[in-house]
Amino acid sequence: MLKGIFRTKNLDDILAALGDQTNSLKRTLGPLNITLLGIGAIIGAGIFATVGTAAAGDAVRPGAGPSLMLSFCITAVVCAFTALCYAEMAAMVPISGSAYTYSYATMGELVAWIIGWDLILEYAIGNVAVAISWANYFRSLMHDALGIDIPQWLSTDFRTARKIPGLLENAPHILGIPIVFNLLAFAIVALITIVLVWGIKESAEFNAVMVGVKIIVLLFFIGFLIYMVSPAQMAANWHPFQPAGWGGTFAGAAVVFFAYIGFDAVSTVAEETKNPARDLPIGIIASLVICTVFYIVVAAVFTGVMPYNELVHRLATEQAEPLTMALRHAAPNARWASAIVDLGSVVAHTAVLLVFQLGQPRIFFSMARDGLLPPVFAKVHPKYKTPHVTTILTGVIVGLFAAVMSIDEMVDLTNIGTLFAFVLVCIGITILRYKDPGRERPFRVPFGAWLLPMMGAVSCVFLMYYLPPTSWWRFIAWLMLGLSIYLSYGYARSVLGRNVGRHPFTTPGLKLAGLGFFLVAIGLFVIPHDAGFADLYAKLTSGMEAGKRTIIAFGCIALGLVMGIIGSLVGTSPSRDE
Ligand code: ALA
Repeated sequence: MLKGIFRTKNLDDILAALGDQTNSLKRTLGPLNITLLGIGAIIGAGIFATVGTAAAGDAVRPGAGPSLMLSFCITAVVCAFTALCYAEMAAMVPISGSAYTYSYATMGELVAWIIGWDLILEYAIGNVAVAISWANYFRSLMHDALGIDIPQWLSTDFRTARKIPGLLENAPHILGIPIVFNLLAFAIVALITIVLVWGIKESAEFNAVMVGVKIIVLLFFIGFLIYMVSPAQMAANWHPFQPAGWGGTFAGAAVVFFAYIGFDAVSTVAEETKNPARDLPIGIIASLVICTVFYIVVAAVFTGVMPYNELVHRLATEQAEPLTMALRHAAPNARWASAIVDLGSVVAHTAVLLVFQLGQPRIFFSMARDGLLPPVFAKVHPKYKTPHVTTILTGVIVGLFAAVMSIDEMVDLTNIGTLFAFVLVCIGITILRYKDPGRERPFRVPFGAWLLPMMGAVSCVFLMYYLPPTSWWRFIAWLMLGLSIYLSYGYARSVLGRNVGRHPFTTPGLKLAGLGFFLVAIGLFVIPHDAGFADLYAKLTSGMEAGKRTIIAFGCIALGLVMGIIGSLVGTSPSRDE
């Protein structure tokens, strides 16, 4: 049917193109730089913000309680499998473009497109979450350090505001509608976008300073709480260890996965690494190990500060930043201590924002170069030499989402998207070992082609299972939207597609298919997101508002699938040879 969608790019061609580039990047980074870059991308909103939801749970999931320490260990193991696979890939194909490029070489164009599209969830949506968390800690910093209270209606989203008593009533109203949006989160994204368009070179020295600040602040948090709370008190608060059983521990592991995202971003500097075959695996694995140790100790002291029930109650009612809340609980009068953690947290978040806001345009860039996105996405500013179109586009989308979305939803969506990308990378390792056994592999995942990569893929799916239904619906909807764009645009325009004899324009059949999968995506976005499959049946028969929505959504999905499949079948040319 679809011509050449599993046709892979030749690894030799990719590597040769790299050699041809006159503007190849300078190879200056060693193993220490790589490790620091990894830590720079990893430590951020995950440890400073998501630990609250992971420990206490929320309306859609149980909390891990003190077993949060175990959640961090579990997620670390899952990430370690994937890290080994990334290390093998990055050492073998030392080229920017991350998982997108790897999958083009191993699993073909369609999967590469899916990954590239999916990485938007990791980079752009991930940054939405980081910006929201940045805003929370910045507001807290202004309060703790300078006594300035930024109004909450300017630093939160509407749905979170509904949970905070009195906030909606006290916000300004226009035509009777309360005005609530996260101006702070929007502002930091706008600022970073301007800096990136202007052209900041992410310098290894600057990153090293940021990493130093993060580590000092986490050490301060740990040391201060160990000093303030006696070991006996902590030990008492660690009981019950798993207040919601293993379900809570696993759900916590799925949430704190966010805290580990970033080790994979290291592979994007492969072209700037002195000895990628040795330094990339060292950097990826070392940064993962160091962060894991920090995370487990932070989780231990965080859950040791107060009894589980109090933690749940305070996090639900105060909507506070978890780490500063723990400090305030242990030492209510030491506002300076909270201010230190706020400051470090703001710095940590800013560093993560920079890395990912820089990474997203590079992925768009690679996709546009392959013809899967319009050429304008690969445009470089004549004066500043930065990919300004994609940088601004990313900034506008991330900024607008950050102004109105709730952090937990964004974290869940980022996690499910990134875990899926990891699954494909792990599978890619096994495929490539068989397809291209003779290629030089400076680093190999130990114990053969199957064991660890498959454990990586399975364990990522396992964590995905513990994410709430909302994120699943949105994730599948996102993939369908991507499929619609691929069929309507990239399939016909892809450089690889031209070589296998596809029509150079989108045929009417493919237009029908694109429209069909677009309808499927709309249906999936419309469907009541709080429900799993079983609940949907109940909603269907309820006759209520949710029931009507479910019927409309199913209608869209069914019609869209029929259009999508028929359009794909008739829309591809049978006449020209591959
Ligand atoms: N790991 C990064 C963070 O926690 C995404 O902010």
